Parts: sequence; structure tokens; C-alpha cells
Amino acid sequence: MSVERNGRVRRGSHGVLHAGVYFRNGGVMAQLIARDVKKVFASSGSGRKPVVALNGVSFEASGHTFVSLVGPSGCGKSTFLNIVSGVESVTEGSVELSEKGGEATIGYVFQDPRLLPWKTVMENMLYVQPAHGREKGSREKQREHVRYFLDLVGLGRTESMFPGQLSGGMQQRVGIARALSIRPHVLLMDEPFSHLDAITARGLRTELQRLWDDTDATVLFVTHDVMEAVLLSDKVLLMNSSGSIYADMPIDLARPRTQTDQEVVSTQAEILAVFEQMQKESEQEPEEDRTKAQLGVEAS
Ligand SMILES: Nc1ncnc2c1ncn2[C@@H]1O[C@H](COP(=O)(O)OP(=O)(O)OP(=O)(O)O)[C@@H](O)[C@H]1O
Ligand SMILES: [Mg+2]
Repeated sequence: MSVERNGRVRRGSHGVLHAGVYFRNGGVMAQLIARDVKKVFASSGSGRKPVVALNGVSFEASGHTFVSLVGPSGCGKSTFLNIVSGVESVTEGSVELSEKGGEATIGYVFQDPRLLPWKTVMENMLYVQPAHGREKGSREKQREHVRYFLDLVGLGRTESMFPGQLSGGMQQRVGIARALSIRPHVLLMDEPFSHLDAITARGLRTELQRLWDDTDATVLFVTHDVMEAVLLSDKVLLMNSSGSIYADMPIDLARPRTQTDQEVVSTQAEILAVFEQMQKESEQEPEEDRTKAQLGVEAS
């Protein structure tokens, strides 16, 4: 059976299993509101200037929405995810996470896998599962649940291995499985597929879309890959090297999308053109003036 949601056709099945059995997130909806977020990292060491990582970032996303953050290295993408997750605080402005229908959980796929090296893959996965499922009897159910997500990322046979015995790409896939396995209402993904080979990345991208389509989860997804952003997103936020949102671009294309769809190709070209324009403007702006403007100091 397929169900219409916002004009998109949802898939009702995932292989022989209904994806919702594993990924449904209980009707809870999150709303994220970032208001004029500024983040300044204090200088560390003598003579080093403070770093303005984010400078007036505002946007809203709620419920079943997929937002990609795209921008040059160092523009503050990871910092923004860290603020949403609560790992970092804002210097000015605010990020609010409100919830409808219950408590919203946050899943985070970090830029590096961040697995506990002394725990096996299974133990790393179980570590993040809800405490109420840890009683005797529920534990075996949790293991089954975890195995589903390990299978999903192609790592069904690694559960008793330690992270040090896996390749970098395999560790990253455990990180992805770990975040998905808590069925988050807000899913933060920091370049999750960038260290994977093209075929694995393509498979996981498709799988992610399929799983997400069956939820009300809000996804914030960081990528350098504009095609990936077009394939996955409802909206692309293009950030500039000053730590601001340069362009907010809705992607209003039917799903599922493939790299060869004419509209996907032309949307990618449009975004790349805006990206190039942004880069040109930032090259023309003297570094000194930019730093001063970011710090709220009048340029001389
Ligand atoms: N803990 C920190 N202390 C000091 N400076 C930091 C800290 N974390 C990030 N920064 C600085 O803030 C800026 C933004 O960093 P961030 O990691 O958010 O960039 P990014 O957009 O994720 O880059 P990349 O695409 O390379 O991952 C950079 O100049 C970085 O050096
Ligand atoms: Mg980063």
C-alpha cells in the first residue's frame, strides 16, 4: 500500500519487513527554530584571533523535512549541528527544539565515527538504546533491533568485532546504524557518506530516503556534494565562509529522485552557479574587513 504525504508517494514496505516497524517514531514531531545564531570561539594561545564560526544563522524546520547544509570547509556546518545537539552553546541568538506528542530524541552521525574502541560493534550499538529496554528479556529484543540496522548498512557479520578491526568506512557505517537505530525525531548527519565508496554511498542514500519517508523525522544533513543534497533534500541552505546562510533554496522535485533526472541535473547546475557566485563575492571581500564585520567591529 502507498500513502500520499505532501504530494509524495510513501513506500509501505521495505523488502519483506515493514520499515515502520523499525523506524516509526511514535507520532512525535519536532520543530527546530534557529534565531540569529552566532558562535565565536575564543582565541586559544597568545596572538590568535577569535574565530567567528557562525554569524546570524536563522531558519526553521519541522516534522518530515530534510534540510541540507552545504558550504566551504570551515564555514560552521559542524558547529551548527553541535549547537542543535547541545554539544556546543551559542554565543548569541538561540536554537529552540519544541516537541509535539512526546519527547523528541536526537540522533547524530558525526563527521568521524566516534565509536568506543573497547566495546564491540554490538556493545557500541546497545550502549545508545533506551535504558528501559535493558531489562532481561528486552535485551534480546534490542539485539534483534540492532541487528536489523547493522544488516541495513551491510555489517551484519561484524557484531562481535571491535572498531579497531574495521576499516574507516565500516566504522562510519556503524555510526550511521547507531544513529538510525534510536529512531530519532531529529537526525543530524555530518557528511555521513563522504568516506564511503560510491556504490555503498548510493545504496545507503536510497535506504536513508526509504526509512526517512516512513517517519516524521527532521533531518539536518551536511554535505559538500551538491548532487547528494539535491537527491535528498526538501531544502538546501548554502553557507558562506563568513558563517552565514547565503541562500535558502527549496528543492521541490518529486521523489524518488535519481542522478539522471533532467530536473535533478538542472537543479544541481543552478545551485552550483549560486555557489560559484558566493565564492566570487567572498574572494572580493578583504579578509580583514570580513573578520571585523563578523566580530561586530567597524571596518577602518
Ligand atoms: N572547538 C573549537 N575551538 C576553536 N575553533 C573552532 C572549534 N570548533 C570549530 N572551530 C572553528 O570554527 C570554524 C567552523 O568550524 P566547523 O568545524 O564548524 O566547520 P565546517 O563547516 O564543519 O568545516 P568542514 O567542512 O571542514 O568540516 C573553523 O574556523 C574552525 O576552525
Ligand atoms: Mg565539519
